[in-house]
Amino acid sequence: MRYLKHLLVAFCLSIVSLVKADEGMWLPLLLGKLNEKQMKSLGMKMSANDIYSINSGSLKDAIVSFNGGCTGEVISSKGLILTNHHCGFDAIQNHSTLDHNYIRDGFWAGNYSEEIPNPGMFVTFIIRIEDISKQVLNGVTSEMPENERQSLVDKNSAEIKRNSKKESYQDGFVRGFFEGNQYYLFITETYRDIRLVGAPPSSIGNFGKDTDNWMWPRHTGDFSMFRIYANKNNKPAEYSTDNIPYTPKKSLSISLDGVAEGDFTMVFGFPGRTTQYLQSAAVEQIMKINDPAKIGIREKALAVIDGYMRKDEQIKIQYAAKYAGIQNAYKKWQGEVLGLTSTNAVEKKKSYENEFQKRVNNNTQWKATYGSLLSDLEKAYAEIQPYGFARDYYLEIVSKIELFSIANAINSLKAAYEKDGENGYKQRLKEVKNRLAGLFDEYNAEVDQRLFVVLMEMYMNDQESKYQSPEFRNWVKENGNNLEKAAVDLYKETILKDARKTLVLLDQPMGDVLEFAKKDPVVLLYADLINTYSEQVSKKLNEIQGRINKLNRSYMQAQMDVFKEKTFYPDANSTLRVTYGKVKGYNPRDAVKYDHYTYLDGVLDKYKPGDYEFDVPEKIRTLYKSKDYGPYGSGGKMPVCFIAMNHTTGGNSGSPALDAYGNLVGLNFDRVWEGTMSDINYDPSICRNIMVDIRYVLFVVDKFAGASHLVKEMKLVHPKKK
Ligand code: ARG
Ligand code: GLU
Repeated sequence: MRYLKHLLVAFCLSIVSLVKADEGMWLPLLLGKLNEKQMKSLGMKMSANDIYSINSGSLKDAIVSFNGGCTGEVISSKGLILTNHHCGFDAIQNHSTLDHNYIRDGFWAGNYSEEIPNPGMFVTFIIRIEDISKQVLNGVTSEMPENERQSLVDKNSAEIKRNSKKESYQDGFVRGFFEGNQYYLFITETYRDIRLVGAPPSSIGNFGKDTDNWMWPRHTGDFSMFRIYANKNNKPAEYSTDNIPYTPKKSLSISLDGVAEGDFTMVFGFPGRTTQYLQSAAVEQIMKINDPAKIGIREKALAVIDGYMRKDEQIKIQYAAKYAGIQNAYKKWQGEVLGLTSTNAVEKKKSYENEFQKRVNNNTQWKATYGSLLSDLEKAYAEIQPYGFARDYYLEIVSKIELFSIANAINSLKAAYEKDGENGYKQRLKEVKNRLAGLFDEYNAEVDQRLFVVLMEMYMNDQESKYQSPEFRNWVKENGNNLEKAAVDLYKETILKDARKTLVLLDQPMGDVLEFAKKDPVVLLYADLINTYSEQVSKKLNEIQGRINKLNRSYMQAQMDVFKEKTFYPDANSTLRVTYGKVKGYNPRDAVKYDHYTYLDGVLDKYKPGDYEFDVPEKIRTLYKSKDYGPYGSGGKMPVCFIAMNHTTGGNSGSPALDAYGNLVGLNFDRVWEGTMSDINYDPSICRNIMVDIRYVLFVVDKFAGASHLVKEMKLVHPKKK
């Protein structure tokens, strides 16, 4: 009998797929409780306290959220930070001109005074994290309607934040975890004087561009360097020439010894968003409806932009960041669909759900509270499907046509006036001017007009007419159903396509601008598009989504109750996390095995002289020929990138990869193509994160760029030669 029971338990455990080593993005303050033992068994030589502690300087004090979407880390006692090339790219692009083309040629400040300020850029440290679930959920009941619950949660959170212990220059935010079953408070310190220190040419920093993006084997030196500046008291301050390089609480030591297959690594950063606990019906919808819709739209947009970028050097600079952004998710979603398919993610989810339902049905109390969760969710997902499709269509299309963004800006002036009168208008006007100045820098009317034609054709032909703007349909009809001709006329007439004229308009008296907004055909067309969307799509979408959120909250709690043997980690939500796993190659398909390391030899293998993606700077070729790698080579070779089983996602770009002792060994920048579905369903057999070897970064800074003064700031160590 006992034996049978054991067998049964073992069987159940195998079905519910316990969290394996490698999977999970963990909260740093819980590592001691949940992960330390496993991390040590994987080879970690430090303690959870070395990673996160609120008293002494721990590794977390060297990690920053970089400019909202990426991660960065402090690598010198002078506030030098390292992040990805693609994270610093907007800044690199902003400072580039046809004469000083830092995208093409790279940039290296020779001293502090040459470091370039970046208005608007910021980095945020996490001072401490607190579990405040009880206080936030005080008064919340399970019967409460969602909006009531949300207001109470917001009210409680605001109060907790207000009363939390923090300095005048610190701030805080509250975030929900596990679908709103738990809440944490983050006390933060944000620095706003961030200067560009160095970036390699794109032929290193974005080597392989879109062809290699999301792919292994990879040979990209995806890094750039910035510096944090603080006021004389080493505290956050707006940009000022009086500011000085920031002295950090902690900066990372850099290992020159690299990692071998099987070595422990961890990635410390700010993963953006994952959805690991979705029901199978939702996963299926992503695979079959949403991802394909978005992929289709981006494919057309990319073809348009690419055509112009290849012909025109100016457009190539202007659209570089936009193109890379559109392409990035486009390619990721394709990998995601592929990976979900090849790993039978939906089937696996279904068998997990069967086990869940079985356990629930065997327990009277669970049966009463959780019994219909899965079927309710399934119904709600079926209901939301057409609205989700319409949302993807609307957002993907409208966001890629800049004429609409311009109309939106003008529209927002009208809204500000209607809400707060002349003062509101004036305040908004400043923002609008800034926004439009930035927009027009990266804009070309001809490209935009072509995008308008190609994308609005999809808007018109690929979705049910009830989701389409009646004004738009009329306008096309009035033009003999010739969208192309209609668009040509529209762009010919409107002043909004023209930066100078638009900015001149905004300098006119308020009355004139408001009058313009009332009559201009583009503004009116845009207003009807957005209005139709909000009436026909988002109203219903939000209502169903609210129900789904509530069901998911119960489902999350239910999974934690029902699968007690499992350790759950919260979905990524742009908060600080630790993920860890071994360095390891993988088998992407039958008979193919990928190594865990790439070398400079591979860069030269891919080299295509003069190519848009695979050109290699002459200096790199020379250094390669003479094997002149300085202290950064290993066994006569120059390591470039490596992969490991760390569970990462977007936002982890620029995150440090640390060795067993907490030394910096690499810089995270991507995942492998076959494994991009790890956002929805991590699978240890094919999910790998890609990092650039820190020795390659140093080689480029020192031997290639001759910026050895930067390396001198850093602390280099040899943990393996201890
Ligand atoms: N795929 C990486 C990420 O998601 C790198 C993107 C930048 N590189 C590019 N070729 N677009 O951000
Ligand atoms: N490149 C991604 C980023 O910008 C990281 C890669 C990923 O999604 O894992 O955050």
